Amino acid sequence: MRAARRALRVENRIDLVSLIEGLALVALLAVGGWLVTRDAIGVTTVVVFVVASRNLFDSFTDLSQLVGEVATARTGLARLLDLLSATTAAAPSEEVDGLPERGELRCEGVDFGYRADGPDLHGVTLAFPPGSRTGVVGETGSGKTTLSKLLCGLYAPDAGRVTFAGAPLAELPERQLRRRIVLVPQEVRLVTGTVAENLALVRGEPDRAAIERAVERLGLTQWLDGLGGPDAEVGQRGARLSAGERQILGVVRAVLADPAVLVLDEATADIDPVTAARLEHALDELRADCTLIVIAHRPATIARLPRVVRLDAGRVVADQLSADAAAGAGHPSGEEKVRLA
Ligand SMILES: Nc1ncnc2c1ncn2[C@@H]1O[C@H](COP(=O)(O)OP(=O)(O)OP(=O)(O)O)[C@@H](O)[C@H]1O
Ligand SMILES: [Mg+2]
Repeated sequence: MRAARRALRVENRIDLVSLIEGLALVALLAVGGWLVTRDAIGVTTVVVFVVASRNLFDSFTDLSQLVGEVATARTGLARLLDLLSATTAAAPSEEVDGLPERGELRCEGVDFGYRADGPDLHGVTLAFPPGSRTGVVGETGSGKTTLSKLLCGLYAPDAGRVTFAGAPLAELPERQLRRRIVLVPQEVRLVTGTVAENLALVRGEPDRAAIERAVERLGLTQWLDGLGGPDAEVGQRGARLSAGERQILGVVRAVLADPAVLVLDEATADIDPVTAARLEHALDELRADCTLIVIAHRPATIARLPRVVRLDAGRVVADQLSADAAAGAGHPSGEEKVRLA
């Protein structure tokens, strides 16, 4: 804020330079005109003075613009430094001893708000046991993405807590946390380079063989060949790929990270229904102990999941097991399948 305010003050001064330039020109013309009428100087002399003063002010304007740009750059730098100090201050560096690789993800009485005028999530209590598969649904703006960020420890709750294997996420160092909980957002970030280089951007930098194995397990070998293989260039930040292709790479990359909990936030929304179905089916087959939390609007995606949590205006309004899952878990009646949170 301080840097931005300073930049604004400098910008105002740039406008002041233009004002002074205009006033000086008026004064020069007035005095010149008066001197010409008194035959003290010729019109040519006045013109020369005006041109010379413009040259002088041009360099002043250039200088003040440069000062303005420096001020803007300082604002950017101040933001970056703030961001760096904010992220390093929040994350503890000491590893938590004995934290298991797999565990239950829980949120208990979680409130979270972006603004001061009231929370966007209210008292959310949910448990995701190891290996469970859960769909999260709700209208636009109901808080699904916000919940996904809380579940991954990207946001800290205002009240309540989010824990993995009993340890609050806020107390886990980033290394341990990111190894266990991975989020695939709708907008997958790629870097300029090849497909393989992008897929290797996970813990342990998987080699070519590991990448090919993961692609095969997800049934995507043919798809990747169509793209040009692992050495295909993705363009600047993935610009050469479609949104759906970027999403597929995002899911493959998440699988390579082999997390305990995989959260997909609309991560297959831009993929055609047939490929999405194949990919979701493959994800389900992956590892029995990998917890899967899938936020989706597409009914077919949700229908494939045994448990569905519904959010409405930031509250959990239903936590429901599908008929098959309920039968498997010994739930006798349809009524009991709906458990209001
Ligand atoms: N960065 C933010 N700053 C302020 N308010 C936000 C921010 N992100 C989300 N919100 C607000 O929080 C509420 C929940 O948003 P969220 O993105 O979690 O919804 P969603 O359920 O994921 O919606 P969608 O289905 O459209 O993805 C909304 O009212 C939204 O306006
Ligand atoms: Mg969302």
